[in-house]
Amino acid sequence: MHPGAPMPSASRGAVIALPFRWSAPHILLMIAGVLLMAAAIHFVLGRLRLWRDRAVLEERQRLALEMHDTLAQSFAGIGFQLQAMRDELRLSESLRIQADTALEMVRRGHEEAKRSIAALRPGLSGSSGMADALRREAERLSNGGALAIRASIDGQARHLPLNVADTFFRIGQEAISNSIRHAGATRMDISLHFGKDDVALLVKDDGSGFELNAQHQGFGICGMAKRADRIGALFALSSGAGKGTTVTVTAHLSSRPTLPEHARRAVKYLLRTGIHTS
Ligand SMILES: Nc1ncnc2c1ncn2[C@@H]1O[C@H](COP(=O)(O)OP(=O)(O)OP(=O)(O)O)[C@@H](O)[C@H]1O
Ligand SMILES: [Mg+2]
Repeated sequence: MHPGAPMPSASRGAVIALPFRWSAPHILLMIAGVLLMAAAIHFVLGRLRLWRDRAVLEERQRLALEMHDTLAQSFAGIGFQLQAMRDELRLSESLRIQADTALEMVRRGHEEAKRSIAALRPGLSGSSGMADALRREAERLSNGGALAIRASIDGQARHLPLNVADTFFRIGQEAISNSIRHAGATRMDISLHFGKDDVALLVKDDGSGFELNAQHQGFGICGMAKRADRIGALFALSSGAGKGTTVTVTAHLSSRPTLPEHARRAVKYLLRTGIHTS
C-alpha cells in the first residue's frame, strides 16, 4: 500500500473486542477455581467411598448375624444330637467309625462357619482391629493352651482397603489354624508391617516346620496363595523340617490422594494443556 492510499475500512472502524490475554489476576483466579474444584471433587469422592464402605459393612453384619443364628446353631445342634446317639446306642464297630466320621465332619463344618462369621466382622480395616482379631482367633483356636501368642504392628499404620483386609484376615486365619493343628509350636508371632506403599502380614511359628517339596493334601496352602493372587498380593511360605514356618502376604497400598495432591495434579494438567501468558 502506498503512503497516500486510504486505510482499509476495518482499520478505521471502532475496536469491538481485543484478543483475550492471560494476566496475573486471571491466572490467580483460575488457580483458585481449580483448587476449589479439586476440594469439591475430593470431598464428594471421600463421601461416596465412606457411604459404600458403610453399606458393605452393614450388610456383612446382617449376614454374620444370620449365619450365626442359622448355620452355626444348626451345626452345634446336629453335633450335640449325633454325640448323644453315638454315646447311648449300642453301635457295632463299623457304625461307630461312621458316627465318628460324621461327628468330625460336623465339627469341621461348625469351625468353618465360625471362621466365616469372624471374617464378616466389621473393624478389620483398621490395622489394630486386624491384628487384634487375628490374635483373638489364635487364642480361640489354641483353646487356652501353652502357646505364647504375640501380635504387633510396625511402620506408619494406615487404613486397609476392604479387599486387602478380607484377604489378610482369611490368610491369617488359615496360617494360624495350620500352626495350631500341625506345628506343635510354643510361640506364634502375628505382625503387620507398613511400608511406604505396601503392607505385609506375617504369621510365624517356631514349630516342627515341613519340607515344602512334600506332597500336601489339604486345600489350605493352595487357598492362601489363590486368595493373595486375586488381589494382586504376593504370597510366600518359608519352612523346613525343624525350622518353624513363616507365612507372608504383601499387598500394594495405593495412597489415597490428599487435597493438595488433587490440586497439584489439576494445576499440572492445566499447565501441560497450555495456559499462555503474553
Ligand atoms: N505351620 C505349619 N507347621 C507344620 N506343618 C505345616 C504347617 N502348615 C502346613 N503344614 C503342613 O502342610 C500340610 C498342608 O497344609 P494345608 O493347609 O494345605 O492343608 P491341611 O491343613 O492339612 O488341610 P486343610 O487346610 O485343607 O484343612 C499340612 O497337612 C501340614 O503337614
Ligand atoms: Mg490347613
